[in-house]
Amino acid sequence: AQDTVRVEIDPSSEGPKISRHIFGQFAEHLGTGVYGGVWVGPDSDIPNTRGIRNDVAEALRALQVPNVRWPGGCFADEYHWRDGIGEPADRKKRRNASWAGRIEDNAFGTHEFFDFLDQIGAEAFISANMGSGTVQEAADWLEYLTAEGTSLAEERARNGHPEPYAVAFWGLGNEMWGCGGPLSAQEYLSRMKRFSNFSTNYNEAEPVRQVAVGPDGGGFVDYTETVMSAWAERSWAWDIQGLSLHRYTRGEWPPKIAATGFGEDEYAAVIEETLGMTAFIETNAEIMDRYDPDGQVGIIVDEWGTWYEGDLGTLYQQNTQRDAVLAALNLNIFAKHAERVKGANIAQMVNVLQAMILTDEDRMVLTPTYHVFRMYVPFQDATRLDVRFRPGSYRVGDVRLPRVDAVAARDEDGKLWVALANVDAARPVTMELALGEGAIVSAAGETLRSSAIDAHNTFEQPTSVVPTPAEVTIVDGTARIELAPHAVAVVSVATD
Ligand code: AHR
Repeated sequence: AQDTVRVEIDPSSEGPKISRHIFGQFAEHLGTGVYGGVWVGPDSDIPNTRGIRNDVAEALRALQVPNVRWPGGCFADEYHWRDGIGEPADRKKRRNASWAGRIEDNAFGTHEFFDFLDQIGAEAFISANMGSGTVQEAADWLEYLTAEGTSLAEERARNGHPEPYAVAFWGLGNEMWGCGGPLSAQEYLSRMKRFSNFSTNYNEAEPVRQVAVGPDGGGFVDYTETVMSAWAERSWAWDIQGLSLHRYTRGEWPPKIAATGFGEDEYAAVIEETLGMTAFIETNAEIMDRYDPDGQVGIIVDEWGTWYEGDLGTLYQQNTQRDAVLAALNLNIFAKHAERVKGANIAQMVNVLQAMILTDEDRMVLTPTYHVFRMYVPFQDATRLDVRFRPGSYRVGDVRLPRVDAVAARDEDGKLWVALANVDAARPVTMELALGEGAIVSAAGETLRSSAIDAHNTFEQPTSVVPTPAEVTIVDGTARIELAPHAVAVVSVATD
């Protein structure tokens, strides 16, 4: 008989809200992440709406993308927003110094970005240029976006948008200890306070959350200490609501992990590394707790995901069932830390790193990671419920991993949802769900599974890895879900 792991869900528990913003996306002017992947221009033969690919927009709508971070990344700290407004033919051409010196013709600028957001139903996360830009340039951009009655607002209207835009997140630079600087934590702090002070949101209906730069997985925790200790002593003149954390799963630098064609050892090593996200969040949350015990400043993990061996100018990579398991585990970690984690942006949305979507000219394919994000939609803004289970253990050589993982939540309509992962690449498992005193009478959902650990979708075979109905049986008031090796499932359970 197959092993069983019992998951006890407490339906009366009231955890924090799992912010929908932990399902955020990231679209940088990098490789074909924007040009080709999202933007083809209005004259393209590829079906588009005002230059934005219809196939990509439609696929993203199904993810209910809460926000898109743009225009970078490293590119944000060299981006001048004025280059990307006005008549397309008159826009400035520059080199994208961050990414292979590609010619940036600025066809996709502020108005195109907001049109794209409208088309997919997402909010804006804009990273201001704190690297090569000035305080005034950033202040002007936010005024241009959000004001009414000023010359900049009139210019916005002339460019086609009389109504103010809403900016949900305003990033105060990107990786200022690295590509955005390099600045020491103290240097960043004094610069950041001025950008925060003078970046005024005039759209009172839509508050903006300012997000300061924090550390990445490789170091710079002094940024957390420096920013948060200053925040505790802040004056009326500046404030932040978020601290950015970046953490990639990529092994050594430059990355040498193969995106496909790997075995169980490489799978386990990648999963082990990715689970370090827990310690990374907790280390930073402990520092934040000292200065902000009420949790007013949220952690925003605004870059995370896999980074495999490949061309460092485009960061294009394949995406397998391993990425799907890894995505689920990271989303679970964010949900488990929802008291502090208020946002996250996977890197990146299309054609770059751990993408949702890959495109090639007029063709598009959805990745296993896409399917996980689609399956997890019910967790957006749901209330986390307490779960108890023994994760067991899965060993590969010296690597020891939890065999399974689970999170549960109640959505805004009162429906209960459970996400389950069988991390074990060799053994199937039965997950037995129990709901406190209540008897489960029905359960239904989807499973993402594959026979090979590196199974993936290609333009020729786009449906090798797609969700299928979960295998569920109801036994004595419990729901039993059969999980194949390295599978992810999301099911809803109902009582009578
Ligand atoms: O996502 C690719 C790059 O990784 C981003 O531009 C940068 O912020 C990070 O180092």
